[in-house]
Amino acid sequence: MTSAPTLRPPRCGPVPAPSREMGLWVWKVAMALTGGVWALFVLIHLFGNLKVYLGAHAYDGYAHWLREVGYPLVPHQSVLWALRVVLLVCLVVHITAALVLRSKSRRARGAVKAAAAPTVSRWMTVTGILIAVFIVVHVLDLTVGAGVASDHFTQGSAYANLVASLSRPWMGIFYTLIMVLVAAHLWHGVVLAFNDLGTTSKRWRAVAKVIAGCVAVAIVLGNAVIPVAILVGLIR
Ligand code: HEM
Repeated sequence: MTSAPTLRPPRCGPVPAPSREMGLWVWKVAMALTGGVWALFVLIHLFGNLKVYLGAHAYDGYAHWLREVGYPLVPHQSVLWALRVVLLVCLVVHITAALVLRSKSRRARGAVKAAAAPTVSRWMTVTGILIAVFIVVHVLDLTVGAGVASDHFTQGSAYANLVASLSRPWMGIFYTLIMVLVAAHLWHGVVLAFNDLGTTSKRWRAVAKVIAGCVAVAIVLGNAVIPVAILVGLIR
């Protein structure tokens, strides 16, 4: 007599280790790539911001160009809106990846050790939250002209809006401190990204540190000096 094939119930329980590692790797790569997009944007934005030293005409011209880039090949502001969508998607994926990786590493370390999160990871979380708050404040302040924006905000007057906003001591100091945090976040971020993407040899670690250092110095020298220059009246 032949026995009927037995139907085994699907296995439940812990996910096999290779697939768990694959999931972890996918989140790490997503985090590195989306962080890279933002880092690139911050560097390009920094070069645009340097036009502030050339005066109102040059700076407003740059802001105007941002809205018109691609026209008449594409409609007005469409490149700008495409960039906004890409940045928003990258921000959401970056924050989601950070939360997922944080919870996975907490689970892996166990509940008892959870309180002792590594310093770098905690530092990245704190600076990341502060930078996210800055982005909201910054867009309201200089793009939308609502909430925290200065009373003198006028659409299309990027230079005057910048000077009016950062002349307020609390806002100028806030921008300066945040630029230092952005530089520090990017410094660690670039080193971690190289590591997560598998470039762990001594030589690649050195390359990562040099790139990270250049990015951080550029942001501090380029961006953080702007609010200071406005606060002391060098840019007005
Ligand atoms: C001192 C440093 C900075 C200055 C002076 C500055 C200046 C400006 C100005 C004037 C605008 C408005 C442009 C316009 O609407 O015409 C703007 C927009 C923006 N900035 Fe900055 N920025 C600085 C740093 C940063 C940093 C570090 C980030 C990112 C972490 C950032 C992200 C953005 C974003 C997302 C927008 C909105 C772009 C849009 O949707 O139109 N900025 N910035």
